[in-house]
Amino acid sequence: MIEYLSITYYLKKFEKMQGVTDLTDIKLPGRNDECWCGSGKKYKKCHMDFDRRMHEYELAGAEVPPHSLLKTPEQLAGIRESAKINIAVLDYVAEHIRAGITTEEIDRWVYEQTVLRGGIPAPLHYEGYPKSVCTSIDEVVCHGIPSPDRVLREGDIINIDCSTVLGGYFSDSSRMFCIGEVSPEKKRLVEVARQSLQVGLEQVKPWGFLGDMGDAINRFIMKNGYSVVRDIGGHGIGLAFHEDPWVSYVSAPGTEMLMVPGLVFTIEPMINMGSCEFYTDGEDGWTVYTEDGLPSAQWEIQVAVTDDGYEILSY
Ligand code: MF3
Ligand code: CO
Repeated sequence: MIEYLSITYYLKKFEKMQGVTDLTDIKLPGRNDECWCGSGKKYKKCHMDFDRRMHEYELAGAEVPPHSLLKTPEQLAGIRESAKINIAVLDYVAEHIRAGITTEEIDRWVYEQTVLRGGIPAPLHYEGYPKSVCTSIDEVVCHGIPSPDRVLREGDIINIDCSTVLGGYFSDSSRMFCIGEVSPEKKRLVEVARQSLQVGLEQVKPWGFLGDMGDAINRFIMKNGYSVVRDIGGHGIGLAFHEDPWVSYVSAPGTEMLMVPGLVFTIEPMINMGSCEFYTDGEDGWTVYTEDGLPSAQWEIQVAVTDDGYEILSY
């Protein structure tokens, strides 16, 4: 999984070096033809100025999204329905999670509550992943596998990462939970990680760059004395679980993909109390741990860029 994400990332970098772009992944309509976006309006009354503006950014060297990544109103509606399930499942977990249960039980809740609402847990069998949800406790950065042997204890901090597919539309979000009384140090980590999403969100608007958002998060986290994981990031999502763009939370302002209405992606920075270094479990091939054994926290939301800012699809 991490490999998948970083390979996509390097492929993107390579494409950029070659000067390849795909704004024109579909043929642009004539002025009086129907717009490519599915609105039924004439191109000149719909996305013509938008495309010209995108093209200007492209000529200036910006990474602009291909039309294929921009969701139509119909697709956004489908993603919202999927996200409703994802939110409801996380709400269910929030109501029932407590010390004494196993992470395997959480996996069962997620499976049952998703299927009950007509969805399918997207992680199940994804690239060989064996469970319906990721449960990442304390020093586990992400992709923790639910297990009948891991009982939640007072003092644990745990990330529950849910993803749903409904009618071909994908949603993805995660939340942190503090089990019983948690140390002030871990509580603060969880809280700062949550606040970093708001800091990032303030940068999400049309004609801004994903790098503006990544930089804002990174600065906020550094100011608070923590570090942001670099090589595992967020992703575009909607018609597939993981789409372009790959999303960094340590990027520079004015870099990475241009944000335009219809682009849908996750904000999910992994925040380490100590160093940003990590490693993947050699046996299960999934569980990611902090190198220094210190705790890590992550919240994830799925957002769409709108005409005047953003819409939170899943949380
Ligand atoms: N939200 C996680 C991600 O996008 C979900 C991973 S599911 C897994 O990476 F199957 F890949 F573990
Ligand atoms: Co994700």
